[in-house]
Amino acid sequence: MVVTQGFCDLTLMVPLIWAELSLPCNVRQLYALVCETQRYSAVLDAVIASAGLLRAEKKLRPHVAKVLVYELLLGQGFQRGGGRWKPLLARHQARLKAELARLKVQRGVSRNEDLLELGSNPGSALQMPRFVRVNTLKTCIDDAIDYLKRQGFSYQGRASSLEDLRALKGKHFLLDPLLPELLVFPSHTDLHEHPLYQAGHLILQDKASCLPAMLLAPPPGAHVIDACAAPGNKTSHLAALLKNQGKIFAFDLDAKRLASMATLLARAGVSCCELAERDFLAVSPSDQRYRQVQYILLDPSCSGSGMVARQLEEPGAGLPSKERLQALAGFQQRALCHALTFPALQRLVYSTCSLCQEENEDVVQEALQKSPGAFRLVPVLPSWPHRGLGTFPGAEHCLRASPETTLTGGFFIAVLERVEVLSSTSPTKTPEQPRTAASALKRKRKRRQKPAACASVRPGM
Ligand SMILES: C[S@@+](CC[C@H](N)C(=O)[O-])C[C@H]1O[C@@H](n2cnc3c(N)ncnc32)[C@H](O)[C@@H]1O
Repeated sequence: MVVTQGFCDLTLMVPLIWAELSLPCNVRQLYALVCETQRYSAVLDAVIASAGLLRAEKKLRPHVAKVLVYELLLGQGFQRGGGRWKPLLARHQARLKAELARLKVQRGVSRNEDLLELGSNPGSALQMPRFVRVNTLKTCIDDAIDYLKRQGFSYQGRASSLEDLRALKGKHFLLDPLLPELLVFPSHTDLHEHPLYQAGHLILQDKASCLPAMLLAPPPGAHVIDACAAPGNKTSHLAALLKNQGKIFAFDLDAKRLASMATLLARAGVSCCELAERDFLAVSPSDQRYRQVQYILLDPSCSGSGMVARQLEEPGAGLPSKERLQALAGFQQRALCHALTFPALQRLVYSTCSLCQEENEDVVQEALQKSPGAFRLVPVLPSWPHRGLGTFPGAEHCLRASPETTLTGGFFIAVLERVEVLSSTSPTKTPEQPRTAASALKRKRKRRQKPAACASVRPGM
């Protein structure tokens, strides 16, 4: 485990560092160097860990290593000293530079300063508001708001921007500007003991984690697969969207997680879900039980590098080794390609709580390439500020999320839909069938020809 030195620890070590590094600068310059090192502390921890510097150099103390690596990669490159450590650092220079470059690619940034905004600033994560989804299987938004008001919370209406969320204080709460059933409280609010949470009327779920079900948007009556489902927050959201009508086939490999999922679903009043302890990769797309599955949610195991709690405990800790990243991306890739072979599939949401391109844009790009022309990325939520990395044409249709840009945990979401082949022999659509861009266009043309009843619209699309 890499231990991050606190600000005070490192500055108290200035005399020691001065002696160790033989830097011919004055005390003020040395303090500036130490403070800058501290500012980049999480970035340096991540680079030092992934380059294996402390494992290779047992005599190198962590605080000295951090200052040295700062000077090498982000400072003046030892033009002003370095003492006996200079040749040692020269041996590791190429690996350290490569790890910094890899970190920038993973985080989707080009400048060193931009790394500071992503994950090295725990303060921003602490200021994230608390998001609370109202479980519409058990209550409605107005009743939940009334109850909370009677308990001394002050409802401020629907927020109009992220700034409104950032400014929340005291016992004030808002409706999220984008998600219809999401309440937003100041960061210090803890509702774990609240009776509405205990009774399953409220689900404590980050906003980014509410997006996959909302964007999959299965209508009541639809058949849905939740491929990697436990512990089940997204499954319960899907059930709420289905109004418990239709079917969710939920799979997971982990028996313990499935057991807590069963409790969570029971508390949330979910009755349309079939839970199975199964490897999704072994679920046969030709099995007749899944012939009507038009929607799949795939939220596979990932490195969790976007998880704020993990970053707060140990900055840089979520960054996986190359080997782990390869293994995860391989599984994610197989799972996505497998999901796309379900014959009736129309719409799929792929999501991770990872910041790594390898687990996100790369997985989606490869899956699209493996089934050329069959599926496309849907351009969702045009107003969402943080988009997929521009690694291939269309990647900007994907969504990214982070504490700094969206006031949420780090997340990635891609929505894929089947490309419709227009043919005169196509069966007539039933009301349950999902709306692809092509079918929406056909409907629009029809509407122009004759006045029609109101069509419901997917939220925010
Ligand atoms: C990111 S978590 C899912 C979180 C869940 N969607 C939610 O919102 O609560 C990934 C899950 O995938 C499960 N998993 C990993 N490999 C699997 C596989 N081959 N088949 C099914 N589930 C798998 C893990 O046990 C883990 O529970």
